[in-house]
Amino acid sequence: MTVQWFPGHMAKARRQIEEKLKLVDIIFELLDARIPYSSSNPMMNEIIKHKPKLVILNKADIADPEATKKWVAYYEAKGQHVIAIDSLHLNSIKQITDKSKGILKEKFEKEKAKGLRPRPVRAMILGIPNVGKSTLINSLAKRKAAMTGNRPGVTKAQQWIKVERELELLDTPGVLWPKFEDQRVGYNLAVTGAIKDTILFLDDIMLYTLDYLSRRYPSHLIARYRLKGEFGDKVALLDEIGLNRGFLATGGVVNYEKVYETVLREIRDVKLGRLTFELPEDMDER
Ligand code: G4P
Repeated sequence: MTVQWFPGHMAKARRQIEEKLKLVDIIFELLDARIPYSSSNPMMNEIIKHKPKLVILNKADIADPEATKKWVAYYEAKGQHVIAIDSLHLNSIKQITDKSKGILKEKFEKEKAKGLRPRPVRAMILGIPNVGKSTLINSLAKRKAAMTGNRPGVTKAQQWIKVERELELLDTPGVLWPKFEDQRVGYNLAVTGAIKDTILFLDDIMLYTLDYLSRRYPSHLIARYRLKGEFGDKVALLDEIGLNRGFLATGGVVNYEKVYETVLREIRDVKLGRLTFELPEDMDER
């Protein structure tokens, strides 16, 4: 799904989320483990105010595991609660439930002290498009395919998915917009497939990505495209990839469009291996 964000959309999305905030105890902020910074929403904390939050780094199965460790440490150092998961093959329900209960321990103890009955933790997922919100909800729902509220007389608008005895999830996630002001963010969203009908130029995305990969993952590039390993001149690199793959236009010149499309698709399809496109240390420059 590609969403075109306009100020009106943002205001509406924000209002809808703010209305639902009072229904939940905790927010699950879903980020793409390959681009945690670029897949975050710039106004998240302002929107959710003091609501407790668990940062969930999704798609960890296709991110660089070492980089994911660094990101987890980065969020923890900032005093945030964080876990890394893979929604497609979710086996971390207990991890999500336990973390949530831990974060809300004090609140629930207070409720108990007031004589209130124990109740499940109620959560809502927030994230930008394509970060995996529906996939996570479906995975959680499949385990316990029990939808509450799906009865006559119960409003259909708010449905709760009973994930576990101790966790209920709002069945519709909150969709937030990504950051727009930083061009690198745009490139990262494009290379990971978060924005598809991209308004950015493919050659810009490609050159930015090749520059990044040649610094962080040179061996992945060399192995996939049988390169000599000279990364100084990016246009020469495009030529090398094009020639090695036989992407030639009439007259024997390299068909760059074909190179862009192929390399970007192969990156998204994890053909180069598990990659992460930004690291916590890059944050210092921002
Ligand atoms: P959204 O609701 O936040 O918009 O995202 P959605 O669940 O639709 O997921 C977007 C794409 O990301 C889907 O791929 C989905 O399968 C994939 N995805 C979600 N979670 C994970 C994960 O943990 N690991 C991996 N590897 N992939 C995940 P898709 O349907 O093929 O769409 P696309 O790839 O064409 O965008």
